[in-house]
Amino acid sequence: MTDPLFDLTGRRVLITGAGGALGSVMARAFADRGAHVGVHDLSPERVGPIVEAIRSAGGTAVEVVGDVSTADGSSAVVRQGADALGGLDVLLNGVGINRRKPIEEVTPEDFDAIVSVNLRAIFFASQAAHAIMRPQGKGCIVNLSSLSARFSFNTISVYAATKAGVTSLTRSCAREWAADGIRINAIEPFVIKTEFTKPLWGEEHRQKWFDHVTPMGRLGVPEDLIGSVVYLASDASSWVTGQTIVLDGGLTIGADWDSFRDM
Ligand SMILES: NC(=O)c1ccc[n+]([C@@H]2O[C@H](COP(=O)([O-])OP(=O)(O)OC[C@H]3O[C@@H](n4cnc5c(N)ncnc54)[C@H](O)[C@@H]3O)[C@@H](O)[C@H]2O)c1
Repeated sequence: MTDPLFDLTGRRVLITGAGGALGSVMARAFADRGAHVGVHDLSPERVGPIVEAIRSAGGTAVEVVGDVSTADGSSAVVRQGADALGGLDVLLNGVGINRRKPIEEVTPEDFDAIVSVNLRAIFFASQAAHAIMRPQGKGCIVNLSSLSARFSFNTISVYAATKAGVTSLTRSCAREWAADGIRINAIEPFVIKTEFTKPLWGEEHRQKWFDHVTPMGRLGVPEDLIGSVVYLASDASSWVTGQTIVLDGGLTIGADWDSFRDM
């Protein structure tokens, strides 16, 4: 029997960037728990297989296609998703891009491209979701931020700044929309093993280093996100808003300095 606190049966959930590594796992996780899922991405080729897989497993899903890199495009995707789902209970802002470069090599075009998808799209998608959810007096938004919002790494300066922006935006939206019954929270994962992060961990010596510095002894996998995202999207977190859950295998609790002697 499903615990009613975590029950997502019939919830209309739009996931942006759901053709991606993390979004696709979240889409299947929500569908497995009875949600009606709007699977969004840039092209039919990216969303089609995910929708098909959900339907084959007995779930319900609809395709939502559109570019979110403009304010109008992002709002339109949310309205299109809500129309296809017959309303909107949960928005999971999962789109994101990165261009890894030292700060000296970042061009204005790089800067704008990253900001437009990672920050502007989240802002205007959330604004559009609020317009739909407010008349319902209830709704919930979950943002996929990143540990880089608070923990520095080389070559991701603009990406990290956008993720710090997403974490901050999460608090601002939560403050302004609490009285409307709309909760907004975020997760900040450390490196999750996907194609997006393969340049970081793909080689064996890098993988070994990550396993060593992460207190739990391994990097994350997409499935590690499911519990926190389901919690934030469900009634189990009914009095939680403006918060961020860090998912990092313990990285930010501190290093085991003694072990460096063995390396
Ligand atoms: N993988 C990680 O380790 C990790 C860690 C922390 C946070 N994140 C965040 O999680 C999110 C998803 O990461 P991922 O690893 O699944 O990446 P991914 O590249 O696999 O997925 C991102 C998806 O967003 C879509 N997208 C990009 N630009 C778009 C646009 N303009 N319009 C519509 N769709 C667009 C892409 O087509 C892609 O399917 C990102 O926001 C990322 O910053 C990832």
